Amino acid sequence: MLPCANYYRPEILADELDTLFDPLWQFGALAGELAADRDFVCVDYKNTATVLQNFRGEIRAFANVCSHRFNRIQPGERGNRPLMCAYHGWSFDSTGFPHGMPRRDGFALDDRERLCLTGYEIEMCGIFVFFRKRSGGPSLREYLGAFYPLLEQIGSYFGPEIDTGTISHAANWKLLVENVLECYHCSVVHQDTFVKTLGIGRAGIEQERFDGPHSSSHFPRTATAGEARRQKALAYLDTRAFTHDSFFHIHIFPNLFISSTQGLSFYVGHALPLSATETGLRFRLFEPKLDLTRAQRAAQDLINQSGKALGRAVIDEDRAILENVQRGVELSEKPGVIGRDEIRIAAFMRAYTHLMGGGSLGGIPSIDDHVAAGDPARSIAE
Ligand code: FES
Ligand SMILES: [Fe+2]
Repeated sequence: MLPCANYYRPEILADELDTLFDPLWQFGALAGELAADRDFVCVDYKNTATVLQNFRGEIRAFANVCSHRFNRIQPGERGNRPLMCAYHGWSFDSTGFPHGMPRRDGFALDDRERLCLTGYEIEMCGIFVFFRKRSGGPSLREYLGAFYPLLEQIGSYFGPEIDTGTISHAANWKLLVENVLECYHCSVVHQDTFVKTLGIGRAGIEQERFDGPHSSSHFPRTATAGEARRQKALAYLDTRAFTHDSFFHIHIFPNLFISSTQGLSFYVGHALPLSATETGLRFRLFEPKLDLTRAQRAAQDLINQSGKALGRAVIDEDRAILENVQRGVELSEKPGVIGRDEIRIAAFMRAYTHLMGGGSLGGIPSIDDHVAAGDPARSIAE
């Protein structure tokens, strides 16, 4: 377990941003959000305001801070407008240069370095757009390892967006990560949502997979009380391309989660640290990609309505607990305990500790060795 202080000390967050966020590939947006000319997505967290912007088909990432006198350039979370500052009207091209400047001759135009926005590296894996603030290091493909083809594939099943938003949590970002790496809490916290409605949460973790700091697993389903009715109502979705009788969850280090509920809906969660004790959970929910008849479309719209309500209810159930846990870590005098169903948390903590200690991405100790060594709960606890 990590020391409790890691969940509330501002200087630890400063270290994390410097070690785990700035030099690594970070999730920025989904391709669909940047599909049209002038589409933009903003990513905001402590010490970082980034904008990803489509310039006639080219996707670029910049600090969302005007090089003139620091105004935030693009507003909100996403939208469609040119990369133009609303203070004195500078407009920027795909290289970050202010090609449009009112009363241009009043400025020294030869210092391109100072006039240009700070640019970031950008790479895509299927529909997932990543950026990197500090250049150099492994390619996105190398960083994601075995999860690269998995992300490429799972993104190809996403249909239209059902819901999106950001929900503020009075909790450290790692508590949000740890929360989604296990479903041990599901039968207690999500009894009326996950368990009763979807049949997820009663069975233990399965098919865990680890590569570098990333992990995935399935949380199998058990029959719901109205299982036959549920199956019948969802029969029109049987031709979907991705099916599995579980909740399938992927964690991309440090703060991106992607999950699929039986291939019936897809969720992307992004835990953005706002301070050592506050996190914005930005989420997007999708239906599967399918050609639907008009009647099926109407049925899907109803399912989306309840899926949207269910998704927000689950987030709220977790948020209430995590805000209590935040108070707890600030009061506890000893680290907690991790069991077999929480093995992905152990792997996360192992990668976190290794990287925060100055270790390389390639040298992250494997959690598989510990599982193979005998009683996993014991080896995790040691
Ligand atoms: S601050 Fe952006 S144009 Fe002046
Ligand atoms: Fe949960």
